[in-house]
Amino acid sequence: MQKENWGTRLGFILAAAGSAIGLGTVWRLPYVAGEQGGGLFFFIFIALLLTVGTSLLLAEFVLGRSTKEGAIEAYRKVAPKGQWHWIGIIGMIAAFLLLSFYSVVGGWITTYFVRSFTGNVTNPPDGDHGALFESITANPWEVGLAHLAFMIMTILVVQMGIKKGIEKASLYMMPALFIIFLILMIRSLTLDGAWEGVVYFLQPDFSAVSSETFLFALGQAFFSLSLGVSVMVTYSSYLDSKASLPGSAWSVVLLSVLIAFMAGLAIFPAIYAFGLQPDEGPSLIFVVIPAVFQQLAFGEAFFMIFMLLMLFATLTSAFSLIEIIVTPFVRGKEHLRKRVTWAVGLLIFAMGIPSNLSFGLLADFHIFGLTFFDAVDFLVSNILLPLGALLISLFVAYKMKPSIMQEELLRGSRFGKGFYFIWLIMIRVVVPLSIIVVFVSQLIQ
Ligand code: TRP
Repeated sequence: MQKENWGTRLGFILAAAGSAIGLGTVWRLPYVAGEQGGGLFFFIFIALLLTVGTSLLLAEFVLGRSTKEGAIEAYRKVAPKGQWHWIGIIGMIAAFLLLSFYSVVGGWITTYFVRSFTGNVTNPPDGDHGALFESITANPWEVGLAHLAFMIMTILVVQMGIKKGIEKASLYMMPALFIIFLILMIRSLTLDGAWEGVVYFLQPDFSAVSSETFLFALGQAFFSLSLGVSVMVTYSSYLDSKASLPGSAWSVVLLSVLIAFMAGLAIFPAIYAFGLQPDEGPSLIFVVIPAVFQQLAFGEAFFMIFMLLMLFATLTSAFSLIEIIVTPFVRGKEHLRKRVTWAVGLLIFAMGIPSNLSFGLLADFHIFGLTFFDAVDFLVSNILLPLGALLISLFVAYKMKPSIMQEELLRGSRFGKGFYFIWLIMIRVVVPLSIIVVFVSQLIQ
């Protein structure tokens, strides 16, 4: 019973791809690929994305589109008895916590973008990019303000609604993201010595592949597609009933793979061409990349557009994270959207403050040996997301009516019954089992 819908199927696909393509896809994935066997990791990742990942993505789509409801009511509508709607509530909590620290990184990107206009990021006064990053992240006022600015940008878009807000922003940001990546990739690949970076990223290294590689790839496949928090349930609930779900899912998956691939080919060749080493974690984009651009002709301008790209990628993911919390509250009361979005957004900002301070004032405050930022990240990425993904796949597989599922999955698509049966086996058996394996292994790690 939702009044508003996506204006076009393309708008839906770009918004869903925007959710999927975020920091995890453009920044963590290429790095992990380089570490874990290069091209072989990438190949395993794509294989898992196309099988297990796409199956779960389709499960979220089927649930959302058939019920036309968001995180809580979708579960209630299918199974009115029992406590199934807690799956949606867990997703909303996970999204709340995820955005609380995701937006901190969004803030760093914002402040780097603004600073890049002054020219002192790629060329720090004392020449030390690492020291600059540390001094910026340790300064509570600067990162606090940038964090707030990032959340306000997110709120301003989401409060405009699905079509006028999220869809419209995605229709500009996603093509821009693609074009910027293309420019950066070409620049990077045409540098002298770029080949070494391509080799690092893509050359299959069989000795680096272990069972851990599969686990990394599987976890990354779910994370990259934003699965497990009912984001895709929510987004597809706004999709009109004629659009083909398998077709939309392929488009989202292919766009994610393409961007991840382009990210690797933009980042590594440039790093190697200038004789630097890829680095783990935040320092890859905030320390190594500025050092790369420092050596490049027009580096400051390239850095600026790189940060703009990161900002778009992060924002479109943030829209979806806040929308999943907003949707249930404005159900049937769309006039409340503005107020609810501001309230939720500012609460998420408040929740993010201790994560933000983890790099300065609260650096010595530890929970189970982790900083606040890392503890929330651990709770979300290693517990809430896999748990949510498991529950969603079991719920769709065993609680939904097969006839409805089949109808919903196949309507408007080129596929027949065989596709439905394969998908059913995937979500009944393969997907839950693979999530359990990743889950357990991450916990005992
Ligand atoms: N897919 C996003 C990325 O690659 C991160 C993410 C994980 C996410 N789960 C999510 C985004 C749920 C939105 C909703 O960065």
